[in-house]
Amino acid sequence: MTNLDLYAKAEHLLGIEDATEALYDLYRSELDEYRIKSLLDVGCGRGGFMQRLISDGVICKGIDLSQVMVDECLFQGFDAQRLDIAEVEGSFDAIVSIFDVLNFMDKDTLINFLNTAATKLNDDGILIADINTRYGFSDVAEGTMSSENEKEFLSVDAQFENDELHTKFTLFEKNEDATFTKHQDTIVQYFHKIKLFQNLDGLKLVEKQKFSLYDTEDKTLLIFKKR
Ligand SMILES: C[S@@+](CC[C@H](N)C(=O)[O-])C[C@H]1O[C@@H](n2cnc3c(N)ncnc32)[C@H](O)[C@@H]1O
Repeated sequence: MTNLDLYAKAEHLLGIEDATEALYDLYRSELDEYRIKSLLDVGCGRGGFMQRLISDGVICKGIDLSQVMVDECLFQGFDAQRLDIAEVEGSFDAIVSIFDVLNFMDKDTLINFLNTAATKLNDDGILIADINTRYGFSDVAEGTMSSENEKEFLSVDAQFENDELHTKFTLFEKNEDATFTKHQDTIVQYFHKIKLFQNLDGLKLVEKQKFSLYDTEDKTLLIFKKR
């Protein structure tokens, strides 16, 4: 199991449903004015955002590096693949990366991702993504929590240092014979300065908007247009 698959298995214990819904509302209202017909959701997770846009009549494709997430999308009948964006065929009116997905990429990976994403957009296409502010990392994301239900126990320990958030996930899953299987792994997320987004070859940053998801201005919404 990869660290992203462990995240996928633990996500329902994190209590982020309301925040996720709030983010989907924000993205949907931002996309409203563009009247898009096709969407690529990068880091699509379980496909919740695709589900909403499919009901709006938009053709959606999702990619995610976690096979656990992709399998859940496929189970629900969504078009999803475990693929790098460079391998995606076709082009789209909009690309979204919702809930910190860009923070999972280090600086070089992120620049490469954004330049590649530009080549997958139709003319006048847009890319929308959210990133954590430094405050979002240092004051909101850092810390420890635990959560459990009848079959699982999760502990999360996150530390922010040198512009990186290291989050250790420990998940115990109860087996049928009442023993537990332990899974443990760390996910690293990277803080990115806005400057990085202002000098891209293929994308022009047309809007940056700080907003509050859990706490005051813990996130920034970024909207790019294809150059
Ligand atoms: C916080 S979750 C958000 C999932 C989904 N966008 C949502 O809003 O529910 C981040 C997702 O990004 C995926 N991910 C992380 N790095 C990625 C990358 N480089 N390319 C594609 N997906 C990635 C993870 O597997 C995970 O499903």
